Amino acid sequence: MSPEDKKRIAAEAAIDFVRPDSIIGVGTGSTVNHFIDLVAEKMGNKIRAAVSSSEASSERLRGHGIRVVDLNEVGKLDLYVDGADESNSRLQLIKGGGGALTREKIVAAASAQFVCIADDSKLVEVLGAFPLPLEVIPMARELVARELRGLGADPRLRDGTITDNGNQILDLHGLKITDALDLETRINQITGVVCVGLFAHRPADVLLLGTDNGVVTHTAD
Ligand code: 5RP
Repeated sequence: MSPEDKKRIAAEAAIDFVRPDSIIGVGTGSTVNHFIDLVAEKMGNKIRAAVSSSEASSERLRGHGIRVVDLNEVGKLDLYVDGADESNSRLQLIKGGGGALTREKIVAAASAQFVCIADDSKLVEVLGAFPLPLEVIPMARELVARELRGLGADPRLRDGTITDNGNQILDLHGLKITDALDLETRINQITGVVCVGLFAHRPADVLLLGTDNGVVTHTAD
């Protein structure tokens, strides 16, 4: 099965988590694009609205006639569905390959259940082969980069990328993340960091992995 087909079957499995008459949180990326298309096809007139984590996803949702609402207008969400760049067996994630990490983390924090959808290449033993994205206030970029080098990372500016929030992305190469909780805490303490794409304090609750043998459901170890 191709990686794209694996993404699609994982996205399809997430439809079972969507409750009629609910407002759902929606992430960003190619796997989530499948989810948006499928939710519109199978449940479009049954959900009330969506809270979106990016302008790109908002546009796709609206294109299907799904109402997009501001997180500030709604209470806690029942469900957030999003992809990931890497997951370990504790369902701690690296996210932000698409640059939407800050809004993704906000919507995940506002949701009772986080269902992550991915193809099976995303499940890894140790996080960090995928460069860890970090959103930074532009004027603090070099200050933050120096601090990160002290943590053993090799920060590289993602050239030409400005986030939906008007900031820049540093991709942190060379990390082997064995204690994701600690690293997330340390990075969060650096002044000028808006958000790091390490989802350890708020990991996924369920990981739906598309494989050659169908969808495999993981919950945290
Ligand atoms: C965007 C993300 C995505 O979830 C992540 O990059 C995975 O993307 P894809 O589904 O295209 O593989 O974090 O910021």
